[in-house]
Amino acid sequence: MSCSIFLLFFALFVSILEQSVSVSNGSQRVILRAISGQDGEKPDFAVELNATNFDSVLKETPAPYAIVEFFAHWSPACRNYKPQYERVARLFNGAEASHPGIILMTRVDCALTINSNLCDKFSVKYYPMFLWGPPKKFVGWDPKQENSEILTIERGRTADILLGWINKQLGSSYGFDDGKYENEHLQWNFSDPGQQ
Ligand SMILES: *[C@@H]1O[C@H](CO)[C@@H](O)[C@H](O)[C@H]1NC(C)=O
Ligand SMILES: *[C@@H]1O[C@H](CO)[C@@H](O)[C@H](O)[C@H]1NC(C)=O
Ligand SMILES: *[C@@H]1O[C@H](CO)[C@@H](O)[C@H](O)[C@H]1NC(C)=O
Repeated sequence: MSCSIFLLFFALFVSILEQSVSVSNGSQRVILRAISGQDGEKPDFAVELNATNFDSVLKETPAPYAIVEFFAHWSPACRNYKPQYERVARLFNGAEASHPGIILMTRVDCALTINSNLCDKFSVKYYPMFLWGPPKKFVGWDPKQENSEILTIERGRTADILLGWINKQLGSSYGFDDGKYENEHLQWNFSDPGQQ
């Protein structure tokens, strides 16, 4: 009798222990994921640009559209946002992209001294800030010149909202679960990249 009560408590104890282990395991994984994103241990889908390669990368990309995210690596808001941006970037950038060649998704770290002129040029006032436009329009950008082809994405703060904004802009219906080239036929014609 006392033995089975002991077993019962033991079983209870073990199950509580298991629960707490799996919880701490879970949060540990979340922390690890955040850190690995930060360190770039896992390769990023968005392309990190700096003052040195900004113009050349945007000049050379065959994609008809680009998004530039201006961020600061020290900003907690930017760090929290990064997985959201990456979730969208993996649809468009990289070998496994479901919609390659349409949007080049990039980021510029304005906290790096090398980029301060670049970020000033684009009048970056808050982080993260997103600009959208044809890649070549970003090259040699003159802030004093009216440039209606470069748009600010005002509310790109979650992956869903950002993808929704893109879909509205392009008249597309891209989704996070798309297979390769799925939904492309609906609105896109690769041989005519100027078309929307
Ligand atoms: C706990 O972490 C280990 C290794 O980090 C992993 O193999 C295991 O699946 C995790 N368990 C849970 C419940 O997340
Ligand atoms: C700019 O980015 C390129 C490509 O990632 C890198 O090779 C280069 O070292 C960077 N320049 C500076 C000054 O960080
Ligand atoms: C794509 O564009 C090319 C040239 O502009 C045209 O010949 C072709 O029919 C178009 N294809 C579709 C599916 O619209």
